[in-house]
Amino acid sequence: MSHFLPVKLEHASRLINHGPTVLVTSAHGGRRNVMAAAWSMPVEFTPPRIAVVIDKSTYTRELAAASGTFGICVPGYAMMDLTYAVGSSSGRDIDKFEAFGIDTVEGPVLKLPLIETNCAAWLECRLIDEKHTEDAYDTCFAEVIAAAADARVFSNGHWTLDDSNQPLHTLHHLGAGKFARASSMEQARPITPAV
Ligand SMILES: Cc1cc2nc3c(=O)[nH]c(=O)nc-3n(C[C@H](O)[C@H](O)[C@H](O)COP(=O)(O)O)c2cc1C
Repeated sequence: MSHFLPVKLEHASRLINHGPTVLVTSAHGGRRNVMAAAWSMPVEFTPPRIAVVIDKSTYTRELAAASGTFGICVPGYAMMDLTYAVGSSSGRDIDKFEAFGIDTVEGPVLKLPLIETNCAAWLECRLIDEKHTEDAYDTCFAEVIAAAADARVFSNGHWTLDDSNQPLHTLHHLGAGKFARASSMEQARPITPAV
């Protein structure tokens, strides 16, 4: 049973604001793919825009360029091994969803393959034409067209990370397959300047 609910576009930036490793999904001409990406970030609240580094050597980049779209899925701790696996293999010759047994749902607007099982959230994105940053820095800018999140970990525009939802705690790549988990939340307290 899916616990995913739509996220208001004005809250979409919060889904990747804390720098989780994400999965980039793509599809074109009957082919589909998924890869890991540690380098993504929001760049605008309204309309919601994001940037993600997708190396020009990847099959993902080829499919995203051809379709003008890509999906971002935010994997939870329960998906750590699969996240590393799809980031360590290319979909040029295999369907990684099939090879690794990853179930997909169809995105409501762009019809992209998206992952809900063991993921905390997804975003459907339309590429913004920024040839220079793509060519020079492999940085792809996109507008978020639709977003949804698992209500057990993100609802009413806010994350809740506690012991009850550990499998959905987001992953943060430290390098070489080691990840830190976002496993607790702390509230900053206001400090009054001394002078
Ligand atoms: C944890 C992790 C994070 C990664 N982050 C990025 C990234 O931000 N950008 C990128 O281009 N590749 C990144 N990669 C590498 C791609 O996921 C990898 O090249 C993948 O095999 C590309 O798959 P594809 O050819 O099927 O698109 C990452 C890999 C791992 C394991």
